Amino acid sequence: MLLFWDIRAPLRSPGSEIRAAVPELVLGPLLRHVGPTDATVWLETDSSCEVQASVGNISQRSPTFRVGDHHYALVRITDLEPGSCFEYEVTLDDKKVWPAAGSSFPPSLIRTLGGGEAVKLVFGSCRISAPHEPPYSLSYERDKRGLGVDALYAMAMRLRNRTAEELPHALVLLGDQVYAHKPPQGALEFIRSRRDTSKPPGEEVADFEEYTRLYWDSWKDPAIRWLLSTVPSAMIFDDHEVSDDWNISESWLEETRTHPWWNAEIIGAHTSYWVYQHLGNLSPEEIAASKLFKKVRNSDDAWPLLREFAYRVHRTPRGTRWSYHRDFGRVRLIMMDSRGGRVLDEGNRSMVDDEEWAWIEDKATGHFDHLLLGTSLPVLLGPGMHLLQAWNEAVCAGVWGEGAKRWGERLRRSQDLDHWASFHGSFVALIGLIQRVAAGEKGNPPASITILSGDVHHGYLAEARFRDDNVQSPVYQAVCSPLRNALPGRKSRLQDVAWTRIGELAGRLLSRLAGIEVPDIDWHLTHSEPWFENYVATLELDGPHAKITSKEAFQNNSGEPDLRRIYERNLS
Ligand SMILES: [Fe+2]
Repeated sequence: MLLFWDIRAPLRSPGSEIRAAVPELVLGPLLRHVGPTDATVWLETDSSCEVQASVGNISQRSPTFRVGDHHYALVRITDLEPGSCFEYEVTLDDKKVWPAAGSSFPPSLIRTLGGGEAVKLVFGSCRISAPHEPPYSLSYERDKRGLGVDALYAMAMRLRNRTAEELPHALVLLGDQVYAHKPPQGALEFIRSRRDTSKPPGEEVADFEEYTRLYWDSWKDPAIRWLLSTVPSAMIFDDHEVSDDWNISESWLEETRTHPWWNAEIIGAHTSYWVYQHLGNLSPEEIAASKLFKKVRNSDDAWPLLREFAYRVHRTPRGTRWSYHRDFGRVRLIMMDSRGGRVLDEGNRSMVDDEEWAWIEDKATGHFDHLLLGTSLPVLLGPGMHLLQAWNEAVCAGVWGEGAKRWGERLRRSQDLDHWASFHGSFVALIGLIQRVAAGEKGNPPASITILSGDVHHGYLAEARFRDDNVQSPVYQAVCSPLRNALPGRKSRLQDVAWTRIGELAGRLLSRLAGIEVPDIDWHLTHSEPWFENYVATLELDGPHAKITSKEAFQNNSGEPDLRRIYERNLS
């Protein structure tokens, strides 16, 4: 029997000073890693307690761990039947808190892998949280506060009426899950209530406490909460988890480090990312092997530990791997960090350090039906933009002298020129790896290889062609951005030009003048022009077959957020 509970009941805000006599749920539960026989559930509570997650008579208990004034738990449920669906519930000190009483959403489910059915993954990026009503649901052109219809919210409202078998196997969130420099209204009011925002860093999120409010405001919406409780999620961060242009260049980092407020901000960003996103990304084996998590669970208050960790990984990113992988049967997803672990030494830049790159190469080795490479930043941009970025990197490194170097850096920051193309060595290495996988040098050539990305506030599907007869797998770049943050018109036109022949020729000329070697690959859009709407994309992978569908968010005739198909294509 399906029961419905109202999760619109008021939630306790994070760090509330007035404590209830019994512990309450603050945020979550989020269903994170799900395997054939197990699942991990993440949540935040308002006080220390014993958390139990249960499926029928199978249950697992875990005490919360503390970070400052906040309490969290990661509970692993084991011994589940492969390829099955189960309703689950959560108790805090034996009091049932989830599903919440009176919800209008269906019970939260765990759907284990291993049923042999087609794998369905939903992906997207860039979501600013705001109410689902005017003026926020209007376009930016109609109202400067407008962000358009929230595609993630529209998807949640659709999925609530679907059967368990129709739910996606995972939601892949490719960066900018939260906007630290553009906080939602509730977080903004909290920030204004605790410090003078006329002084730097102004109305940006400034420390861990403010980050907890940012995550709460971004994920507390009942529909989003239900979605995240019932569809497993895989996440990776991008710049807006910290600030616009985070880690764009060595000189940006040096300048930013001189600000007195920076340490608190970056420590808050890394600590909150580790707690709210990264922990749940990990497999049970990785969780069990994590020395840091073990120390966190064994400490009275993990804040000093995590503060030290966050400061260290900011100052010395080498040696910390944010990348991870997940397998969905014979489909492998490698989520590659392309923001937090950058090596920024001008003239020797790379997206990740050597150790992390070796890990990526290793995980791309094996026999897969399909290989998916998740990276917040597109690898294959519009050719004009790609060549512009490769040229700009060379100019910033000094190939045209000191004067041009300073000018190049200004251009880099004003136009956000920091994608894979502007880490040209990493781009070449990644293209080489894809070429070897597609040619069957790392295992059987997959039926398809698709790069999944976000960030650029427009979306597209590009098909790549190698000038190499040994390449057998079709290779694609799929970009889904934004879920909710439509780009104003001016930048949209610049992105449009990047796909034109004129844009490509101009970029080719510039890059040739700077001595850039272009790899043996070209790529083109599989449709007439990029999409600039808020939208969400779906991949369906069934044996050797793969299909991608893009759905735009819109307000239907009843005034409700909805989705409609704008594109569909068989990839293999
Ligand atoms: Fe971004």
